[in-house]
Amino acid sequence: MKQKHKLFKGKTLAILTGGGDTPAINSSIETIRNRASLLGFKVYGIRYGWKGLIGEGDVVDLTNQPYNGWYGGTALRSSRTNPFPSGKNPESRVPQVLKNLDRYKIDVLVTIGGDDTNGAARRLYETEGIPVIGFPKTIDNDLRTRTMHHYNGKEIEAVLCPGFPSAAKAITEYTANLKTTAESHSRIIVLEVMGRDAGWLTGTALFGGAQLGLVPEFEMTKERKEVFFEKVKESYLNSPKKSLIIPVSEGVRWYDDQKGKVDVVYASSELDEYGHPRFGGISGIIASEISRRLKIEARAQITGYYARSGSCRRYDRRLTSTLADKVADLLIREEFGQMPVLNKVVPYQELEEFNASSIDMGQIGNKPLPEEYYDIDNFSFDESYIDFLSKIMKYMRFEDFEYDFPVVIP
Ligand code: F6P
Repeated sequence: MKQKHKLFKGKTLAILTGGGDTPAINSSIETIRNRASLLGFKVYGIRYGWKGLIGEGDVVDLTNQPYNGWYGGTALRSSRTNPFPSGKNPESRVPQVLKNLDRYKIDVLVTIGGDDTNGAARRLYETEGIPVIGFPKTIDNDLRTRTMHHYNGKEIEAVLCPGFPSAAKAITEYTANLKTTAESHSRIIVLEVMGRDAGWLTGTALFGGAQLGLVPEFEMTKERKEVFFEKVKESYLNSPKKSLIIPVSEGVRWYDDQKGKVDVVYASSELDEYGHPRFGGISGIIASEISRRLKIEARAQITGYYARSGSCRRYDRRLTSTLADKVADLLIREEFGQMPVLNKVVPYQELEEFNASSIDMGQIGNKPLPEEYYDIDNFSFDESYIDFLSKIMKYMRFEDFEYDFPVVIP
């Protein structure tokens, strides 16, 4: 009897996940699936992002299936497939996508992704009228969500994407742990952090004990490099245990003495279907320049996939669930071409549906770290960034072992 009252009984909603994985994707899938099921949708999962809607399709049924939203990554798997023509693949696969949406009788498509995946969804909505709902996801935190941060009477346009809070926690812990090895060898460790062209994630190392940091938003010209080396030396010499951890974004633009220009370091210059190269290796270059110039032992360490791996953290779990509540609202209103977002940066206990809204997917795009958040003169992060981050997480409590052994004179 009850079944009859479900709003969308007989309709099918399908979810796909595209781009790099994050620890919060399964939580997003589970919470969206649960809400859609309550409304009466049959819920499908499309495997491997847009790729699962090409050819014969690759679709699974998620209705009434057990699910583990705490488990990291994406059980639907992911790809960087772009259905629209790109440099790498000039052929449009949109007709195949449309055919499969029809074959599988999919009424609503929810795309969990960053700018690329949701950008493709938006085009399908605008050009083909496909009912889509975008859902934010990225550890880079660079997908515009129009989430406002109220700080000291100012309003700063920030970003809060599921995946970022878990990655931030991972980078913080990683940095805090690295401290003991840096101290033991009196070294500088240059810690490379993912994030493509954005420095949101790099700054999170601050909560693990880092002080200085370099982000892609501010070029390291020849002149700025000189100032930077001075700062590094000063911070190292002032540090109680003669050690330093310097987080640097993988996409940092660094003056190359040999080339005579500012450049990024690529792990591979081959572009994916959305036109992105892969960054990697800048930490090695910076560490060896520090060693050479300052005569202080420096090492490079790449955090890589550590930021993206492992379980969904608490903040992300509730953030995804709050945004999924908003998806339910959009479904009830049958409003498509929208993406749920948080209105303002709030602490865990305020992650409630009334603090969420949705934005037109036409408004999405990339949003780098705001200027206000970075202290360009000190190569560090501003108090306003610290305030932003402290809403999401706490400083790592790491036990410091303070020692000052008396020196033995023979
Ligand atoms: O966009 C997420 C991200 O992890 C970036 O930070 C990083 O540059 C990229 O994905 C790496 O992609 P892949 O795993 O495809 O090499």
